[in-house]
Order: sequence, then C-alpha cells, then structure tokens
Amino acid sequence: DFQTAENFRIKVVEPIKKTTRAQREEALKLAQYNAFRLKAEDVYVDCITDSGTTAMSTEQWSAMMLGDESYAGAKSFYKLEASAQEVFGMPYVQPTHQGRGADFIMAQYYAKPGKYAVGNMHFDTFHGNAEILGAIPVDCVIDAGLDASSPAEDFKGDIDLKKVQKILDDHGEDAISVIIITVTCNNNGGQPVSMANIRAVSEFAKAHKIPLVIDSARLAENAWFIKHREPGYADKDIREITREMFSYCETATMSSKKDGLVNIGGLIVTRNHDFYLYSNVQAIVHEGFITYGGQSGRDMEALAVGLREATTDAYLDTRIAQVKYLGDRLREKGIPIVEPAGGHGIYVDARRFFPQIPQYEFPAQRLVVALYEEAGIRAVEMGACAFGGKDAEGNPIWPELELMRISVSRRVYTNNHLDCIVNAMEYIYAHRDEYKGMKMIYEGPITALRHFTAGFELL
Ligand code: F0G
Repeated sequence: DFQTAENFRIKVVEPIKKTTRAQREEALKLAQYNAFRLKAEDVYVDCITDSGTTAMSTEQWSAMMLGDESYAGAKSFYKLEASAQEVFGMPYVQPTHQGRGADFIMAQYYAKPGKYAVGNMHFDTFHGNAEILGAIPVDCVIDAGLDASSPAEDFKGDIDLKKVQKILDDHGEDAISVIIITVTCNNNGGQPVSMANIRAVSEFAKAHKIPLVIDSARLAENAWFIKHREPGYADKDIREITREMFSYCETATMSSKKDGLVNIGGLIVTRNHDFYLYSNVQAIVHEGFITYGGQSGRDMEALAVGLREATTDAYLDTRIAQVKYLGDRLREKGIPIVEPAGGHGIYVDARRFFPQIPQYEFPAQRLVVALYEEAGIRAVEMGACAFGGKDAEGNPIWPELELMRISVSRRVYTNNHLDCIVNAMEYIYAHRDEYKGMKMIYEGPITALRHFTAGFELL
C-alpha cells in the first residue's frame, strides 16, 4: 500500500506566528507562567487541548449553509438526531452547548449527595459538578493506568471492578449512585477502555442496580483501539463498534468538540425516557430549547456530518497514526512518555523527566513553561496543579500522575509541526538537570479549578 498519507488535502490555511525567546519570556512573565493565560497568537504550535480546535471538512462547511435557525423543531436538529442515533444506537438525543452542559444535567440526575460516583477517571467538569452536589467522585481505573512508568498495555483506561466492589463492601450495597466510564480515559493518557471491560462493568452495574453512563468525548478513537487491539473486532465497522459500546449503558454524555469534529457543542444521548424528559427540562432552563440546546442550526449541521466522518476508518487511521508518530519520535529520543500512545495526545511523565523537582514544586508545570520558553509550543499540565488540592482538614493532596499532555488537534497540524515539538523536547531533555521547580503564588477562589487561573514564580 503506497497510499499511506493523510486522508485529506488542505484547502484553507491559517497563518501562525513565530516569536523570539525574549518575546516569549515577556509573555510568560505577564501570564505568571500559566499557559492558560497566554495569548493564543503568541503560540506557535498550540497543543493545550484537542477540544474545539478541529479543522472542519468541506462537507461540514457546506452543511453549515443549510443550518435551519428555527427556534423549535429545526430541520438541523432532526439531522443531528439521526446521526447521533446511528453512532450511539440509542433513541433519545438532547443537544447541549458543550460537554460540560451535558455533564451538569447528567450529574443533577445521577449524582446523589453522600453517595459515590465511580468511574475510571472522571473528567474535571463532572468531578466538579458531583462535588458541588455533595456526591463523592472516585476514580477506579486499573493500577497500570495510574503509573505513568508502567509498561505498555492495550487498555489502560479499564475500570478495576475489585475497587468498585470494595466501595460496596465498605459502605453498603446502595453506596454508589452511578458508574461513569470515560472513553477514552483523558486523565491518564487518552487510554482506551476495552469492550470486555465495558461489558463487565455493565453486568456488574446491572447486578447491583446502578445506572451506567459513558462520557463519550472520544468515542471514535476508543472504537478504533477496540477494532485494532481486541480480538473479534478487526472486521467490524467502527459504527458497529460504537453502537455495541453504548448498548451496555443507559446514558451517554458527549463533548462534541472532540470526536464530533466541531468547534463547539455537546450531547446527551440516552435510552432512559425518564432521564430524557428530565434533560429536556434542564436544557430549557440552562442550555436552550429541546431541539437546539445552545447550538445554532449550523452548529448542529456540522456536528451531524462530523459524527459520521469521525466514525470512519479513513479518518481514524490518519488520526491515530499521527498521534503515534509523535509518540514514536519522542520515545526514540529517550523521553519518558505514557505508553502506549493514546488517542488524542502524548503524555510526558514529568516525574521521570525532572526527577530533581519534587511534586510540590510542580515538575509538569515547569515542563510546560520550558516548552513554551524554548519553542513557543503550548502544552498543558495534568499533575500537581490541576489535580492537587487540599483535603477536608486542609492537608495538601498530590495526585499520583504528574503529566504534561501534548494534545494533538484533529486535522490541524502536519508532522512537521510535530517534529518541532520533538526537537524542542529533545533539547530540553538534554538540559534537564539545569531546571528547578516553581512556586504557586496565586491559586484563585476554587482549588479544583486553580490550573486555569493560577500564578507561578520560577524557583
Ligand atoms: N469529558 C471529557 C472526557 C473531556 O475531556 C471534556 C473536555 C469534557 C467532558 C467537557 O467537555 O469542554 O465540551 O465542556 N475536555 C477538554 C480537554 C477541555 O482539554 O481535555 P467540554
């Protein structure tokens, strides 16, 4: 096969700007060394997220012209509904303005004060919603998924049911109000969840009468990994695989800014009619009327097409191969990454990268700063700042994983851009002994959200 390149060619381009080291030092000072506070135009290659950054296709842009902007019953809604039904295999579809809108409504219904909300690893927005409601969010991913230096395994996003069972043993048969599987598992490397695990968790949940929800932001990438790693799926269509994934749950939430291949939007998809009616009411109050939920008609048109595009082999083969390319190049340079490469980015293990920097001096954050300083490349910290905090007695909590995520936007950068990242990382790694840590000098009012606004000083 000589046809191994991207499954698209480029029709529209967006210029990016080079900066000098002096400009970047100034920008970092102004941003108090927090990448979220940099101006995007001062960034050369932006890998802070893969969310909402997708380049849309010609089909999506042309569909947008058909956007029906009717308040109620827009044609565009019915197209989105049909597309979501095809991908999820579930009957009821409520659009939301983005994933966290869906998370909010889902949490209101499924998270209960004093009860556990169990998952592989909850994304921040559900975690925050659950905490506000007085529920207890707990991560039960397998141990290999919590150790950034563990050897490569096919499905590091799997839930460890022994950990879930222990919660029932310790706190009683009705201690858990909901189980949420996040596909892929964003917080530990974009690692997939196997069909076998989804099935086993579903059987467990049914046996204990606990509703099962799937947070499906990266459902297509997860399906690709199942197809290529799990016996019995190699010849299946991606959409057959997604439909099987969701056949095991009651409800799915989705940030469509990832595998929806759009820049904004979210979904609730469910087979629970009672929850559907509840989500309609919540949407009317918080999002928008039932048939738009905060999205314009043209947003829904683009998403209807994007969901179908994302769930094809042609798109996914290119996508997953590009992320793997970045992982392979970094690994060749000896840079410690979470292995195997995930679906939407490469996660560098800052503990191994900067062993001299203790976790309370924010090694992953220091690496984010170094990458911007040297190359104008923006990654994101997923470690002591984002997931650290204080317990009820005010003692500091430090997360097990101390990572820098280099997120890869969909259809946006070429492998030349990724080579710039590799070269910069190689340079920083060669000088790794010269780095010291950081001190947090501003935290913001809510610890769980401090990474967005925090300020730092270099030590
Ligand atoms: N669930 C997962 C697994 C996510 O990764 C995100 C967002 C959300 C829900 C919330 O969706 O942003 O549309 O409101 N993740 C982004 C990220 C922000 O950078 O990983 P949203």
